[in-house]
Amino acid sequence: MDVIKTENLRKIYFLEEEKIEALKGINITVKKGEMVALMGPSGSGKSTLLHLLGGIDVPTKGKVFINDFDIFSLDDKKLSVFRNKHIGFVFQFHYLLPEFTVLENVMLPVQIYNKRDAKEKAEKILRLLGLEHRLNHKPTQISGGEQQRTAIARAVVNEPDIILADEPTGNLDSENAHNVMNIFKEMNKKDNVSIVIATHDPEIAEYCDRIFYLKDGQIQDIIEKT
Ligand SMILES: Nc1ncnc2c1ncn2[C@@H]1O[C@H](COP(=O)(O)OP(=O)(O)O)[C@@H](O)[C@H]1O
Ligand SMILES: [Mg+2]
Repeated sequence: MDVIKTENLRKIYFLEEEKIEALKGINITVKKGEMVALMGPSGSGKSTLLHLLGGIDVPTKGKVFINDFDIFSLDDKKLSVFRNKHIGFVFQFHYLLPEFTVLENVMLPVQIYNKRDAKEKAEKILRLLGLEHRLNHKPTQISGGEQQRTAIARAVVNEPDIILADEPTGNLDSENAHNVMNIFKEMNKKDNVSIVIATHDPEIAEYCDRIFYLKDGQIQDIIEKT
């Protein structure tokens, strides 16, 4: 089954006089339980594509289907509920809230639903990611690798079907980068979560089942790992 499917996805940014065609008609699918990499030079459209797949930006043309559902047929409010339920986003700069503790940062996406078990859920995932000794620390009091693992915990605490990660290892040293990839791989294998990772690092792409190469807003090549 295709968890993600795009149909002739186009994105044009208008900057004063300039018109930037960031995506020029993307047709891709990601299967249930698949882990794929988006590669390509800076400016090729990787982040734009991830944002559209996750419904955090709207296409100029074309469609995104998540579990066969046309996500841009929803109004803003319903789309944000859908997103919170089905999609976990991990960014290069983790965007943790500095005034909140590690535990509180991870509880937030659960609390949006007023669920009572936010604390238990957040503690459980933080323990799985080896952060049980950091629950009451603020983001500035922990290492870069720990910050990124906290951001991953926040992205997956609602048990999404899909994880979208934009250069999630871009700010990490090699050891922490591989730790993060092993965490993704384990979630992928154990829970059958579909994962899309934008990266320009071939070593990171090695963890994935397929690699989509983007160039100038188009899919240039698809490599399947054998
Ligand atoms: N918010 C924006 N406004 C205008 N242009 C943008 C915006 N975001 C991205 N772009 C442009 O769209 C193209 C694709 O960018 P992006 O998706 O960030 O590529 P990548 O993630 O592969 O580096 C680039 O030319 C970039 O400058
Ligand atoms: Mg980018």
